[in-house]
Amino acid sequence: MYRTHHCNELRPAHAGETVTLVGWVNTKRDHHGVIFIDIRDREGVTQCVFRPEENAAAAELSHTLRQEDVIQVTGKVGARPEIEGKSTVNAAIDTGEIELVATELNVLNRADVLPFQLDKELSNEDLRMKHRYLDLRRPRMSRNLRQRHAIAKAIRDRLDAAGYIEIETPILSKSTPEGARDFLVPSRLSPGKFYALPQAPQQYKQMMMVAGLEKYFQIARCFRDEDLRADRQPEFTQVDIEASFITEEDIFALIEDVLAAAFRVSRGVEVPTPFPRITYQEAMDRYGSDKPDRRFGTEIIDLSDVFAASAFKVFASTIEKGGKVRAINAKGFATVTTGQVKRLEEVAKEAGAGGLAYIKVEGGEWKSPIVKFFTDDEKAALTQRLGIEEGDLVLFGCDQWAVCSEVLGRLRLEVSSMCGLTNGMDDVLDFLWVTDFPLLAYDAEESKWNAVHHPFTRPHTADLPLLDDESQWDKIRAVAYDVVLNGYELGGGSLRIHESDLQARLFSVLGVSEEDQATMFGHILTAFKFGAPPHGGIALGLDRLVMLACREDSIREVIAFPKNNKGIDLMSASPAEVDFKQLRELYVKSTFGEKK
Ligand code: AMO
Ligand code: AMP
Repeated sequence: MYRTHHCNELRPAHAGETVTLVGWVNTKRDHHGVIFIDIRDREGVTQCVFRPEENAAAAELSHTLRQEDVIQVTGKVGARPEIEGKSTVNAAIDTGEIELVATELNVLNRADVLPFQLDKELSNEDLRMKHRYLDLRRPRMSRNLRQRHAIAKAIRDRLDAAGYIEIETPILSKSTPEGARDFLVPSRLSPGKFYALPQAPQQYKQMMMVAGLEKYFQIARCFRDEDLRADRQPEFTQVDIEASFITEEDIFALIEDVLAAAFRVSRGVEVPTPFPRITYQEAMDRYGSDKPDRRFGTEIIDLSDVFAASAFKVFASTIEKGGKVRAINAKGFATVTTGQVKRLEEVAKEAGAGGLAYIKVEGGEWKSPIVKFFTDDEKAALTQRLGIEEGDLVLFGCDQWAVCSEVLGRLRLEVSSMCGLTNGMDDVLDFLWVTDFPLLAYDAEESKWNAVHHPFTRPHTADLPLLDDESQWDKIRAVAYDVVLNGYELGGGSLRIHESDLQARLFSVLGVSEEDQATMFGHILTAFKFGAPPHGGIALGLDRLVMLACREDSIREVIAFPKNNKGIDLMSASPAEVDFKQLRELYVKSTFGEKK
């Protein structure tokens, strides 16, 4: 037996017992020849005292210990003494009232000098990732992984209780249109052909509904070859759910129950349900985002009627062309620096704006080159609608509705980050359903219509007639919904098309030729002809959920072995080159480095 207790277990009630602990040397202090070792395992730390009078050899050996050596210590539990009238109790740790007076020490393995200190935050993430096995020794990291386990278990339990069965789907699968690039795997047995790693188990789960399984879930690994960000990894985990004979309301209630359970086990809080709902249209109108962070206000206000006849031509001509003039009031942010204004301008331009008009209200004056064009009525309307006061900064968006929303939405978030509007608000959990997403969006660059969610999403029945008229396609609403928390898209789903002819029609709208429909989606179109039940579902991003529950700001902090932002696993150094022989067996030749 390696140990009798773990390192966060001993309390004053154990005083007098002889116990054995194992773990890592967390810290070592030498007090006039008495060695204090804090021994750490995954549960916590316990102070061990090595005195020559207990066991001279063990005390001698303890002198040689270094941080992260692996040791086994046997000794007697004692209350921490008073030294010169001062208590040596350490209230900062759970075992702070006791110490282990060591009588035996067994060094199980030695540690070299570490590449970094484990007790300090390290800003060099690459170094952390290279030695991830050390990084994960930090209590914060192991706490995150244990939270992830607890959350996944709570979710499994809730879904199990609701009659959902967990079914695995293939990893070696076929390209499925979730909108990102596929990772491909060459097939040795079918020369020249490739599997795709699943971007989501979407088609398989729909096939399970046709199969009559009725309620499916899976904690599923998904793969998407896209640009990486703090909340995006090339492989990530979804809580993937699908059910038959289910309504949108049923799915909302199920997910609210699941998410409440997740936050109950992780944060110990009761999340109020049902979650509020807003439509996509309202989210874009008010927040300029389909995943609004509503923990702060700064809502977008429409001013198109105010400036329709404005002497400021940029505004008037945009409105004349069917565009919008809208604004946000960054309360109290007239103190904005020149550098910050530059940054705001960049943000606006990145979002598609031609420029950024703004007004600083300082010393009772509206400071802005455009104010001279405004009439008193226009100024009065502005003041009233935006609640303008001394010290405010007003930022304008002036464009077609979609771009205008996007620009102001991004500015709103940038202002929030500059002003720290959500600082200290980790405990506010603003859950929200965003509903009625558009079914289709036009891609001007590629001159084609794309599915906003994916091609299996069901149009609103009332909007079906609009399919007959391409000029109306952007007005078709989907029975699609996202669940949002504090500005993050936690999950998304929809009711699905279950009729073969409607599905084929949608593929045609999306520009998939009949031939491609047959080769790419033949299995779906055929399956739907054999009694496919009405069905729908959703997928939650488990990494994001755990990230938010753990108050982290990157999903890398809640994934054991994540890739860096270049998609590289620095610890194992993958991706890596492979043998020519391996490639030959797969009938693959790299063109990397070849001249075009
Ligand atoms: P969607 O593409 O919206 O839907 O994905 C669902 C959720 O998965 C998470 N997610 C990610 N998390 C980390 N890294 C990524 N690269 C990443 N991409 C997505 C998000 C997102 O909300 N098959 C549909 C679901 C359905 O219709 O049932 C789907 O995959 O939290
Ligand atoms: P000092 O530096 O002498 O004031 O000692 C304070 C530090 O030594 C603290 O970390 C104490 O926890 C530790 N310390 C000294 N003697 C003891 C003891 N007998 N038992 C526990 N901790 C001790």
